[in-house]
Amino acid sequence: MTEEFIYRFVPPKGEGVPPLLLLHGTGGDENDLLQLGTMVSPNSALLSPRGRVLENGMPRFFRRLAEGVFDEDEVRRRALELADFVDEARLRHGIDRPVALGYSNGANIAAALMLLRPGTLAGAALLRAMVPLSDPPHPDLSRVPVLIASGKVDPIVPESNSARLAAMLRDAGADVSHQTLPVGHQLSRADVALVRDWLATVDVQEPLATR
Ligand code: MLT
Repeated sequence: MTEEFIYRFVPPKGEGVPPLLLLHGTGGDENDLLQLGTMVSPNSALLSPRGRVLENGMPRFFRRLAEGVFDEDEVRRRALELADFVDEARLRHGIDRPVALGYSNGANIAAALMLLRPGTLAGAALLRAMVPLSDPPHPDLSRVPVLIASGKVDPIVPESNSARLAAMLRDAGADVSHQTLPVGHQLSRADVALVRDWLATVDVQEPLATR
């Protein structure tokens, strides 16, 4: 049993859609992305933990040394801790493997989770994500659907960094769609439409190989 995460769980309202694992950005909490989750997939179960690290009182999913500079041992430890939480929550609530919907710091921990424990997620929508590990393992992410939504004028995530993340996940076999929106780091209406349309293409009927 891992140490408890504070989280919200919203039961599914229909069938044939994957649960969403909602992962907020720095300073957010378990309530932040519930509305976004409902907007992009109204029938999905929503599993929404609060990051367990505090930076000046602001919840995050892992500690950082500076903006964009990560303590990678901590990234690894926290990603595995989150994977354990997901596994336990699936049993507790009887849900399938979730698709992560992460924003900023939440997208970064989702990317790390996929690289470090590839069987945990059925896919991921990574909004304003960056490379979480400089020397990642080489997981098998064959056919795992991934959406990366970057901001053209994002002051936090350089275009080259999100492109590197896309390449890293593609090299691992993931089915990556990398879209760059004419926005900054903040979420926009375009993100909502992008994630909703992408989710509609994610095939949850065909079970992915157990990894
Ligand atoms: C991070 O620390 O994960 C990234 O710099 C994004 C952020 O939270 O600002």
